[in-house]
Amino acid sequence: MGPALPFSIDQVVVGRSARMRAVFDYVRVVADSDSSILITGETGTGKELIANLLHQASHRRSRPFVPVSCAIFAETLIESELFGHERGAFTGAIKDRPGRFEMAEGGTLFLDDVDDVPMSVQVKLLRVLQNRVIERVGGLRQIPIDVRTITGTKRDLRQLVGEGKFREDLYYRLNVIPITLPPLRERREDIPLLAEHFLKRFYQRRDQPARPLSSGVLQAFMRYPWPGNVRELENACERIAQTCTCDTVKIGCVPVSVLFHHTAEMTEPVIETHSHPSSVSLEERLRDVEQGLITWALKVAGGNKSKAAELLQIKRSTLGDRIKKLGLPDAGGEDAAGRIAGAD
Ligand SMILES: Nc1ncnc2c1ncn2[C@@H]1O[C@H](COP(=O)(O)OP(=O)(O)O)[C@@H](O)[C@H]1O
Ligand SMILES: [Mg+2]
Repeated sequence: MGPALPFSIDQVVVGRSARMRAVFDYVRVVADSDSSILITGETGTGKELIANLLHQASHRRSRPFVPVSCAIFAETLIESELFGHERGAFTGAIKDRPGRFEMAEGGTLFLDDVDDVPMSVQVKLLRVLQNRVIERVGGLRQIPIDVRTITGTKRDLRQLVGEGKFREDLYYRLNVIPITLPPLRERREDIPLLAEHFLKRFYQRRDQPARPLSSGVLQAFMRYPWPGNVRELENACERIAQTCTCDTVKIGCVPVSVLFHHTAEMTEPVIETHSHPSSVSLEERLRDVEQGLITWALKVAGGNKSKAAELLQIKRSTLGDRIKKLGLPDAGGEDAAGRIAGAD
């Protein structure tokens, strides 16, 4: 166990899974050294949050924490973002501008998406990290820097090195202390905790008491693969807080994308077309397509018309009209508020 942090870790970061607890313990141990840290994790897993935590727990905490994404593909722009530029260095450089390294002086620079840095800039980055001096684009002055660097990557840098897409020497320079953040789907026990944390925060901002999730919603959250990780869960909670005023958050209050993630049944139905028709009735064919899609949407939505309408990107009233016009059986299993009976 490392030194006590100047704040409680669980006020800011949430996680009770063994893997996240191991990360928090490790953060305490390595925070106060000046070694380079490489954080690997998919987008939205909390790389920037952990980098910030490392900064707050270090002796540099009274100096700036400067995050910067390297996912800028134009070479001059990324160089100018990192190292700054002098007036006239390129078209549009109308005045001298310091880069992120200079802004982070005395503090911590978080270089996110380092896997996107082009080879040509990688050489310059390595030189800066080795010599602790920068040169602004178009400048001659050598500016000494005292900055701790933490890097973030969504791809396995070791593998990129193997593929010849990332410089090996830079990789070793960055990866003194590795931290890996698991995707949310590999630590599902954190989902209820995180959801509660975010809902509390978003309802608080609206001056409203937080609402608990119904067991149906919790199940849906636990099943969903969260490809956008914690960020996506956070966004889902924000949307819920904007719209849900029920006592408990019900299935009907949850963004449709979370409930019906891409599974086999989510795939649009194949609607038969006859390959060599003698003539075609456009009206009839369109009606078949419409009927097929509506039946599919109702099935996927478990009979919930509001959700089916959302899947089809039409208004609920429009869906009702079309069901009537096509003479489809009215989907049952829904109560007056448009919720799936028994789903909550
Ligand atoms: N363990 C966690 N506890 C609380 N909030 C988290 C946690 N992990 C991520 N977040 C939040 O999720 C969002 C995405 O995290 P971020 O650090 O930007 O991810 P990344 O840099 O990996 O894309 C941020 O708003 C962050 O505060
Ligand atoms: Mg990030």
